[in-house]
Amino acid sequence: MAGESKLTLSVMTADIGGFVGHLSSHPEVLDTAKERLYAAREKGTILDFHVLRCGDDLELIITHQNGCDNRGIHELAWNIFSACRDTAAELKLYAWGQGLVRDIFTGSLKGMGPGAAEIEFVERTSEPVVILMSNKTSTGVWNLPLYKIFADPFNTAGLILDPTMLEGFSFNVLCVNDNKEIVLSTPREAHYLLALAGFTGKYRITSVHRNTDCDIAAAISSPKLKAMGGKVAEESTPAAIFRCQAGFPATGEVMEALSFPHLCEGWLRNAHIGPLMPVPFYEANPTRFDGPPRVIAAGFQISNGRLIGPHDMFDDPAFDETRRLANQVTDYMRRHGPFQPHLSFREEYSTLPFVMDKLKDRFKKL
Ligand code: F6R
Ligand code: MG
Repeated sequence: MAGESKLTLSVMTADIGGFVGHLSSHPEVLDTAKERLYAAREKGTILDFHVLRCGDDLELIITHQNGCDNRGIHELAWNIFSACRDTAAELKLYAWGQGLVRDIFTGSLKGMGPGAAEIEFVERTSEPVVILMSNKTSTGVWNLPLYKIFADPFNTAGLILDPTMLEGFSFNVLCVNDNKEIVLSTPREAHYLLALAGFTGKYRITSVHRNTDCDIAAAISSPKLKAMGGKVAEESTPAAIFRCQAGFPATGEVMEALSFPHLCEGWLRNAHIGPLMPVPFYEANPTRFDGPPRVIAAGFQISNGRLIGPHDMFDDPAFDETRRLANQVTDYMRRHGPFQPHLSFREEYSTLPFVMDKLKDRFKKL
């Protein structure tokens, strides 16, 4: 990487199969991904890679020079996920291949099950990035932290202390139901942004750009959940990429937004609401009631496309109180059992259609 040539950072996520149940991934699945990516790096198809997992979601972190949504890179990821599925099938891991909803690659990972968070940028003199990866969450989980990181000076002091950030950031917001997008610029349109982004199921912040030069600051992956006969066909849970420091939020300002274990949808059977618990890599195993929902953070310095890291960002006692609060909120929410607001408000992900069909003849008009 020299001069102004652009680098792409792609984070592909997929639920390949669980060990045990839906809780974690198996090392052999990760090894399959590593072997394939190693070969791709040797061939020069990609610049560098790192493989991680959060719960039962596999995470491929790749640098290359082919741009976002590139057919070749997506196909590479698809082939790796397929090879991992074969490994998972051999081990009879639980629900192996669950996150791959198609048989044949059709040109992009979009709509095929896996998620892809991607940014293309000119590598700076020093390029720190933080990647958040989650499990047992759902789309919209990043709306709250994205707002805090890029629009709330009570979280991000740089919004008032760094001259580049004084001009604020612009948010791309996807209207999920209509498949439409709007760009809202903060601080001017912060209230409009909040009016939409609070409805996390309907409006999703997909990327953020810096107002001074339109440079990309953050992007999320946006997989979908599918309701099928009262069961949710799970696709991979979302990831988010953040560029940090020197005109972007500091790594500490990104992390600060995760110090509040905010409530999100997902958890057991994708049908519950619970706190997002930030954990180090080795604690990303949601065992209690298949939860509570987890987030891990991998920090990298990128050097000429090389991924220097990862640094396990939540491996810090400063997050102990967040985890403790998440555990208290878990106890509190669990005591609601099958009642809202522990139970998700999304009726389509419940057995309600099935139950109503069973009972329809027994309802009497009053
Ligand atoms: C949620 C998840 C798990 C499963 C649950 C039931 O994302 O993966 O909570 O929904 O363990 O799984 P099945 O229906 O496969 O028995
Ligand atoms: Mg699973």
